[in-house]
Amino acid sequence: MSKPLRKVVFPVAGLGTRFLPATKVVAKEMLPVLDRPLIQYAVDEAVDAGADTLVFVTNRYKHAIADYFDKAYELEAKLQEKGKSDLLAMVQGTLPKHVRAIFVTQPEALGLGHAVLCAKPVVGDEPFGVILPDDLIWNAGRGALGQMAELSQAQGGAGVIAVEEVPHDETDKYGIVAATPVDERSAAIHHMVEKPKPADAPSNLAVVGRYVLPGRIFELLERTTPGAGGEIQLTDAIEALLKEQGKVLAYRFHGTRFDCGNKAGLVRATMHMAMQDPKLAAVVREFVATH
Ligand code: UTP
Repeated sequence: MSKPLRKVVFPVAGLGTRFLPATKVVAKEMLPVLDRPLIQYAVDEAVDAGADTLVFVTNRYKHAIADYFDKAYELEAKLQEKGKSDLLAMVQGTLPKHVRAIFVTQPEALGLGHAVLCAKPVVGDEPFGVILPDDLIWNAGRGALGQMAELSQAQGGAGVIAVEEVPHDETDKYGIVAATPVDERSAAIHHMVEKPKPADAPSNLAVVGRYVLPGRIFELLERTTPGAGGEIQLTDAIEALLKEQGKVLAYRFHGTRFDCGNKAGLVRATMHMAMQDPKLAAVVREFVATH
């Protein structure tokens, strides 16, 4: 068994152009699904996976994320004074007491791989998780990252990448893996292709926003030259890891993924969460029946 996962990196320094104009001032990760911002769902999943150190890779426009997890003295005092203990617990519970949040900046949006590399001084040489908060993964039981951390640990610290089957005509929107099944949920990756045309895609297993990686990935990222789109691609460093270690696993997680990086996904996630609440479910049903 290798070391348990304690640290999770949230690369949140992207520009979020698909949600302009809102993202001129509101970080994409602060967009709410019902009453909770996307980043809260991601943090809850990291804590569920056993993390006690959360590393947010932000940029100079994203103060709201740090503010959100900070203590809100005035608000908390007012809620206390008014006896609103439920709301007070909710406000104080954005980050559990045993968990610390560390913020590092990515000075320029040079790609996901570069954003992850910015977390190197905090993570060091140990296994860590990566969560892209705009991929919201909902599961009634253990969260997706927790499932992956367990698999990685049982496999001697092997890298584990979350994958999902996507329609064949959508392979050009994703990183696609070629892999040999190991069991019902996991497969050994041979190689990964960034956004292949459907005719060239080796499968329809697409990489989605969860990774468990060894600390070694940082050195490999340092050696990675800019790839597709002039950005430093995490996929390229994972390919190098695969060559070096001979094993990186693709894992089909239990749960439902909502791609909240686009409007349709955010609407779906909102409807899905609303349907979990009987009162809101009635509102959704009534709305759909009358429109
Ligand atoms: P996306 O490809 O979704 O880009 O990044 P984006 O900028 O967030 O959104 P659009 O496409 O312009 O609407 C995937 C993840 O990688 C992070 C993003 O914050 C997001 O979580 N990222 C991307 C960085 O942190 N830095 C980068 O340089 C690029």
